[in-house]
Amino acid sequence: MEKWPDKITTFISSFLISVPEIVICAFNQLLDLKDVSTGVHSTRLAEWAIRVARKLNIPEDHLYQVEVAALLHDIGKIGVPDAILKKNGPLTSEERALSNRHPESSWSILRLFPGLEQASLYALHHHENINGTGYPAGLKGQDIPLVSRIVSIIDAYDAMVSNRCYRKGLPHAEAVRRLVHSSHTQFDPEVVQTFIPIAEQEAADVFAAAGTSTAAAL
Ligand SMILES: [Fe+2]
Repeated sequence: MEKWPDKITTFISSFLISVPEIVICAFNQLLDLKDVSTGVHSTRLAEWAIRVARKLNIPEDHLYQVEVAALLHDIGKIGVPDAILKKNGPLTSEERALSNRHPESSWSILRLFPGLEQASLYALHHHENINGTGYPAGLKGQDIPLVSRIVSIIDAYDAMVSNRCYRKGLPHAEAVRRLVHSSHTQFDPEVVQTFIPIAEQEAADVFAAAGTSTAAAL
């Protein structure tokens, strides 16, 4: 049985293809600078994503694309004004439209790096819904890349259970209830069912690997 690396950077370097590890880490730090909770959140997503991908038998040699997509899927938020990104109240339709452009921005950044073409496509589609009501393309079901469906679910879960300055995170059970409730509409039900036991059994490891703790976030 392969031993899990302690640090995400170790894992990145072990699957290095052509983009230097330092570039990936620098982009993640950019996310931190833009919004600390986004950067740490993305680091946890990379941990969740690898665990779910392995359970779904995604080949080991593809896990680099999975990890980068999970880590940097929101890099396009760099282009969303802080007044929108950090707004506490509901967004206007114009603000919503601007915010919803971030997956395309993520794609346009990541696709520039040779070797990240697939990760860029996964980032592009991370806000698609399984019933076709998501964005930017309105893809439906299996037309949505599997890795994008994974990122969508772990992104929602991690955001729900995390504390924010303006609200406390939801309990694990309530976050799971919401994932199940939105299966068949927003989320792929099979990926949700794959993720639930991982969330139950591996949360402490995931939070520790990202330099956070479940005590602070759950
Ligand atoms: Fe996003």
